[in-house]
Amino acid sequence: MEEKLMAKSAIDKLFNPKSVAVVGASRHSGKIGHAVLYNLVYGGYRGKIYPINPNANEVLGLQCYPSVLKVPEEIDLAVITVPSVLVPQVMEEIGQKNISTSIVISSGFKEVGGEGAKLEREIVEIAKKYGIRFLGPNCFGVIDTWNSLNTTFSSQSPLKGHIAFISQSGALCVAILNQGLMEKIGFSKFINLGNKADIDEIDLMEYLADDPQTKVITLYLEDIRQGRKFVRTARKVVKKKPVLVIKAGRTEEGEKAVSSHTGSLAGMDVAYETAFKQSGVIRAYRIDELFDAAEAFANQPIPKSEKVAIITNGGGVGVLLTDAASLNGLKFARFSQKTIEELHKFLPPFASFRNPLDVTGNANEEVYFNAFKTIINDPNVDGVITASLPLQIMDERKLAHLIGEVATQVKKPVIGCFMGGEEVEEVEDILRKYNIPNYTEPERAVKAYAKLVRYKKILEELNMEENVVTFDVNRKGVAEIFKKLREENRTRLTEIEAKQVLENYGIIVPKYRVVKSLEEAVEAAEDIGYPVVLKIVSPDIIHKSDIGAVKINIIDEKKLRVAYQEIIRNVKKHAPKAVVHGISVQEMVPSGIEVIIGGIKDPQFGPLVMFGLGGIYVEIFRDVAFRVTPVSEREAEKMISEIRGYNIIRGVRGRTRGDINFIKETIMRVSQLLEDFKEISELDINPLTVHEKGGFAVDARMKIKY
Ligand code: COA
Repeated sequence: MEEKLMAKSAIDKLFNPKSVAVVGASRHSGKIGHAVLYNLVYGGYRGKIYPINPNANEVLGLQCYPSVLKVPEEIDLAVITVPSVLVPQVMEEIGQKNISTSIVISSGFKEVGGEGAKLEREIVEIAKKYGIRFLGPNCFGVIDTWNSLNTTFSSQSPLKGHIAFISQSGALCVAILNQGLMEKIGFSKFINLGNKADIDEIDLMEYLADDPQTKVITLYLEDIRQGRKFVRTARKVVKKKPVLVIKAGRTEEGEKAVSSHTGSLAGMDVAYETAFKQSGVIRAYRIDELFDAAEAFANQPIPKSEKVAIITNGGGVGVLLTDAASLNGLKFARFSQKTIEELHKFLPPFASFRNPLDVTGNANEEVYFNAFKTIINDPNVDGVITASLPLQIMDERKLAHLIGEVATQVKKPVIGCFMGGEEVEEVEDILRKYNIPNYTEPERAVKAYAKLVRYKKILEELNMEENVVTFDVNRKGVAEIFKKLREENRTRLTEIEAKQVLENYGIIVPKYRVVKSLEEAVEAAEDIGYPVVLKIVSPDIIHKSDIGAVKINIIDEKKLRVAYQEIIRNVKKHAPKAVVHGISVQEMVPSGIEVIIGGIKDPQFGPLVMFGLGGIYVEIFRDVAFRVTPVSEREAEKMISEIRGYNIIRGVRGRTRGDINFIKETIMRVSQLLEDFKEISELDINPLTVHEKGGFAVDARMKIKY
């Protein structure tokens, strides 16, 4: 607890230091250390500033010290701008001086490999030794607009606002900073993570969750190294404020050599996509989309529901907004009778009196405003997108003021779509005064609004109880199977071994027996009951059917004898070197709905469970859902219902309905197995046949890594 409190205050000093030292405060105006000092001195920061430079007595009129150790007072934050080889020594001195927080701007660390990586490990060690928390190395620094603190070497500072931006790329920070200024976007904090050798996005999200000036957290990420911790933390943070992310590199395909369906379906991006979804983090795919939504979150309340009203003075824009609204999951509020009657009082008879409301080009600002006021006060309307075209009879500036006045009175979101004309910038400035973000493109306005609705739903979901069921299982039994595999230096389980693992976790498989002779096979088939299936049991043969080592629907002893001999012949011919454990005689279960349940281990996010329809659906349509384990009851239910083929399982058009509870339980049991045995690298139950009541894991594959 104490450690946590300390850690938190160390991060607080990144933004709220009482005093800052710039180590490497150069005398020369073209150098980074000079620029950092300049930004601190002239950026309005009110704390104490200590330039550190052994080669100078004074920089920018401030007394210089040869080392932080020579500063007589306490220092909260040290910004390092000396060449990388000097950083370890500087870090030592920072530790000796008891400075809790540092920003390492210097490059030349892990990003250059070799010696640089070694230097980075060195500074991590020193920081650990002294308990220093640091941002970077190779980073741009931080800007806190509310404390007028700028520790970067940027030539400008962003506008004050409520959006926190955390970026893994320094270059993107500069680009966003400039674009933000052009578009007048306000930021609370601007942070570049650099190499993330210590402080990472998780630490910062946790801190910003309680930062009163930050209403929305935006992230640009290239990787997440502590995936599980990210999910856990993000879920807590999202309950307090929205988190929006752009994750770069989403098209990159995994290069892992995978042999399971699940593995081949899980590209590099699946774990990220799944983790964001599960933690309630909203993903954007473009930078403008990220900040459009961020502006809406920073300035407007969250709607009570997806029921929106759209008002325009131009039919075409109305259609564009309507299309976009439908595509983005918004619902059109139905106006009350009272609203319609009211509208009739001032709108021309040829106006539409339905939502979306077109007040027509005949409406001046007074008429438009009256309509706006009427619909926003309708109890059926939970928010408004207000669009306007610059027409001769309309004074848009006046309209913006009128709308702004009312919008600030109601607790419903209002998003602007005032579209163009010479005065649009002026109109946008007026709207901004009333905290109404404006988008000159209808789709952008709708998408921003839709994210407010999405967040509302995320909050509802996150606040529902998550019940992770723990089943009574035979963990020891599974451990023994894996121990044997390790002893035999094997990573791939046979189908029978995989099924034994599943059985130990209460997953029902068709009855089976492994035999070593034809006579044993005949006896086993009698006991199990015809029809049966014969399959080769070998760790070396993965694709059994391809070489004729599986025979199904064997209805009697005569057929069994033939099938048995055929399998032996085929294996001798196609896989003469394969180690054979025997032949399994299996109960031939009735056909049902075929689904697949799988597992894969992601290097950052750990085990993921997959669910989908089996057969061609999984191969062609890739209609699958993933979750990071452990999977709660509700998540398992959602996995089943979110695939496109859900209706097939529910039994449409007279088809038999599949036992959804059985699927749900199997997903949860697989989740528990993957949680308990982190050595499982791949797992496929394919197919799991699902009947009206229950079902069977008909085939299984599993691989472990140790
Ligand atoms: N403590 C404090 N200051 C020291 C010092 C020490 N032990 N040793 C030297 N200095 C002073 C130098 O005298 C110099 O000041 P001066 O110009 O008045 O003489 C100042 O520190 C800077 O040192 P210098 O050797 O001139 O380095 P530099 O300014 O050319 O480069 C970096 C330093 C950190 C800027 C450079 O190494 C670097 O990493 N650049 C890239 C930064 C970057 O892009 N980061 C990522 C952003 S996204």
